[in-house]
Amino acid sequence: METPRTIRRIGILTGGGDCPGLNAVIRAVAKTALNRGLEAWGIEDGFLGLIEDRVHLLTRDAVSNILTRGGTILGTSNKADPARFAVGTGPDGKPIFEDATPKVLRTLADRGLDVLVCIGGDGTMTGAAKLLAHGVRIVGVPKTIDNDLMHTDITFGFQTAVNTATEALDKIHTTASSHHRVMIVEIMGRNAGWLTLESGLASGSDVILIPEIPYDLGVVCDCCVERGRHGKAFTIIAVSEGAKPIGGKQVVTRVVPDSPDPIRLGGIAEVLCDQIAERTGLESRATVLGHVQRGGTPVPADRVLATRFGYQAMELIAAGEFNELVVMQQSRLTSVSLHEVAGRQRLVPLDHPLLAVARGVGTCFGEPAS
Ligand code: F6P
Repeated sequence: METPRTIRRIGILTGGGDCPGLNAVIRAVAKTALNRGLEAWGIEDGFLGLIEDRVHLLTRDAVSNILTRGGTILGTSNKADPARFAVGTGPDGKPIFEDATPKVLRTLADRGLDVLVCIGGDGTMTGAAKLLAHGVRIVGVPKTIDNDLMHTDITFGFQTAVNTATEALDKIHTTASSHHRVMIVEIMGRNAGWLTLESGLASGSDVILIPEIPYDLGVVCDCCVERGRHGKAFTIIAVSEGAKPIGGKQVVTRVVPDSPDPIRLGGIAEVLCDQIAERTGLESRATVLGHVQRGGTPVPADRVLATRFGYQAMELIAAGEFNELVVMQQSRLTSVSLHEVAGRQRLVPLDHPLLAVARGVGTCFGEPAS
């Protein structure tokens, strides 16, 4: 598709947590742009690069040989919402925020960037959506290992993270069965259980605990004990960092005050481990997979998805369809307004077919019998 003459320079930024496939998107956007006679400019460290005027030209060389590389060659930041940017700390220890939008607009004008491709999750899209009101032309690309962006069936990075978490759960199996233990593995995902559900299913985990289904500790303990009675003297529990007991709260590991989404979840595996050991007398251990899930080379499916997303972003730009997020719906690439995804999270619906499948093969979700 021919790009309108008004579009010459494409700015590319990666925002939020890093994720396998970011470089594959950067490469797809930049190569498609260069092949269409346009310029691609890399913005360093997400919106921070626009606030601090840190951008550079992306040559063919710069985006060559990065398809398989994890992380992002541009750097990223999950603390830089231009409309609410932390500039220091007040006497009370709390961050002082200012609206850095004018700085962003100045960089865009000075550098002559005609359109931005923002690759990120809901935090990045929320920041991007606020810039639209100032006339900035933006196309979004959905990234996150959590798979929790609204209106897209899948985000790139998710499938690699499922792979990583599944491999870890498979390896945990060895110790679980050799030592007859309860092994609890904590998996990322914030408030969404997609990563735990898929890796739990793929590894045949005996118990899967996700934020969308609050659990009953007694039911989880009974499941561990029952398995022993049926000759299975070990249990593998895949637990989301955001899981919580019925009537209880999520476990928070830290608060990052200058981040647009300050709460960091984590620690539930240790809590469960102590509780299960105390209640059942079974030897239990907790493993937190942590940022291992965000690292490494993207699996082929993510490389293809990321490349398709990047190319589609350029197609939207060529069609003059700005202020949209590229999405995958029922295996079809399409787009939705950035406003529709900003500030929202896509959780596992309670009628999702995978839940029925898991229950069908005997997986325990810690639900009390109805
Ligand atoms: O959104 C991706 C993610 O890895 C979540 O799964 C996790 O809760 C969070 O980021 C961790 O953030 P940080 O890298 O700031 O600790």
